[in-house]
Amino acid sequence: MKRLAVLLSGRGSNFEAIADRIKEGKLLARIEVVVSNVDAAPALEKARQRGLNTVVLNSQELGKEKFEQTLEKTLKDSKVDLICLAGFMKILSPSFIHKFPNQILNIHPSILPAFPGLDSQKQALDKGVKFSGCTVHFVNEGIDTGPIVLQAVVPVFESDDEQSLSNRILAEEHQLYVKAIDLVLRDKIRIKNGRVVRSSSQK
Ligand code: GRF
Repeated sequence: MKRLAVLLSGRGSNFEAIADRIKEGKLLARIEVVVSNVDAAPALEKARQRGLNTVVLNSQELGKEKFEQTLEKTLKDSKVDLICLAGFMKILSPSFIHKFPNQILNIHPSILPAFPGLDSQKQALDKGVKFSGCTVHFVNEGIDTGPIVLQAVVPVFESDDEQSLSNRILAEEHQLYVKAIDLVLRDKIRIKNGRVVRSSSQK
């Protein structure tokens, strides 16, 4: 069974979607550890209620170096195959990322490379785009710039505000993240020249 780590900072609805699909037997994996860099992340209680191993590493108190050292040890001790960032609001340093090559996924609420960084849904509304969506990508040294695994599109309506657009995107996120994790865990994709392609055995 492949072993996942989920890293988060807040609500944890993507974490719950992943945990639900695992429970239903639709995603063959187990969540080995849930790590929050925020003490009061609501997702922690949800994880505990599911009987999962939770670790809190307060990134503000620890400082970047100590935080990343402890996180690395936690992930290595847990022998995880894949690290899923799910609303994890901390930027990981290049040296940390290099320790887990092609092993870190993130979900972002826009069609990258449009609207990276914070407040993507607001950026989309401000720009007046007619479609937005979400992206699952591997994490590289940049902000939301890593190889794209999957994307899903949603319409943007004139009547939308940040909340309504976020909700529409979030519903897609919950489907998309699980699909992307499944592809990675089953070796269905690989990275070639900085792009995600189907593994050659799939051709
Ligand atoms: C999601 O919109 C995700 O795309 C972004 O942060 C949000 C996290 O939501 N990276 P949740 O904590 O998974 O509910």
